[in-house]
Amino acid sequence: MEKRILILGAGGQIGTELVQSLREVYGQDQVIASDLKVPEHTEGPFVALDATDGAAVRKTIEDGKVDQVYLLAAMLSATAEKLPRKGWDLNMDSLFICLELAKEGLIRKLYWPSSIAAFGPTTPKMGTPQHTIAEPTTVYGISKFAGERWCAWYHHNHGVDVRSLRYPGLISYTAPPGGGTTDYAVDIFHQARKKGHYTSFLRSDTLLPMMYMPDAIRATMELMEAPAEQIKQRGSYNLAAFSFSPESLAQEIKKHLPDFTIDYAPDFRQAIADSWPQVINDEAARSDWHWAHRYDLEAMVADMLAHIK
Ligand code: NAD
Ligand code: SER
Repeated sequence: MEKRILILGAGGQIGTELVQSLREVYGQDQVIASDLKVPEHTEGPFVALDATDGAAVRKTIEDGKVDQVYLLAAMLSATAEKLPRKGWDLNMDSLFICLELAKEGLIRKLYWPSSIAAFGPTTPKMGTPQHTIAEPTTVYGISKFAGERWCAWYHHNHGVDVRSLRYPGLISYTAPPGGGTTDYAVDIFHQARKKGHYTSFLRSDTLLPMMYMPDAIRATMELMEAPAEQIKQRGSYNLAAFSFSPESLAQEIKKHLPDFTIDYAPDFRQAIADSWPQVINDEAARSDWHWAHRYDLEAMVADMLAHIK
């Protein structure tokens, strides 16, 4: 069957690149981008759509003969700590709408991202296993953990084909990050180019799992293409590439820009980062559907600086 894809929240850091990659593979007209924000330019189908408006999402799916949905609309960790109820409502309502439409058979395959934020301070920080203690302490993390359990419940009780990845912090140059705790790892490149200096809102030694966007997009598309019987985790898969701290990232940037300097002014986001894992074990993804990352820290930094002038 020909694929028709709808992306909810397509105007953000991930959606901007995912739309382009899906269109390269499945054809421009097969992929409908949607967001609350209407972009100035669109190169393919775009619909202004609120992911929490169930009737409008249903109509877009029916009118567009959509059979796959990627739900990217969400409030990220730092913003959701400031707007807890709004963050919870957006993250959960949009997911329930999609899971219910999938239960009805209107969505044949659903993608919904989780995060390393689904873990908490009682989770083993090094080599965090696929199955372990998960007691998230942020609103965002609670929504991701609850969302994972709901995805598994809809799969096991209603046969919904929902797939998910626990993304680490994502680094990219195409679109700005949307209010997360790992945003420093994107901002630092822009400030390094503009001012030769960056003030980090995380402490120098804050080690976090990270990934370059091309790997994250490829992981998402490979997961969605994998035969259903290979997808053994219907909550969400751990996914990893490399981990670094602000200090080690600054050292790597200095190899390209020797005059670059960094200082540190930790804010409320430090507590969020301190509650998350530091190094993720993603063996389940590697063995079930053959995930393998391509970019390490050195390759990511070189490519980011090549694109940010
Ligand atoms: P983002 O904030 O950059 O983009 C989210 C998009 O959703 C924005 O364009 C926003 O306008 C849109 N949106 C907000 N409310 C909406 C609504 N009601 N209806 C429709 N659109 C709405 O986020 P992102 O970084 O692209 O993240 C996408 C998903 O991936 C989220 O679920 C996020 O939790 C997850 N994730 C991201 C990262 C990361 O580092 N970027 C890491 C882990 C997980
Ligand atoms: N990058 C995201 C955030 O910091 C993690 O899910 O919120």
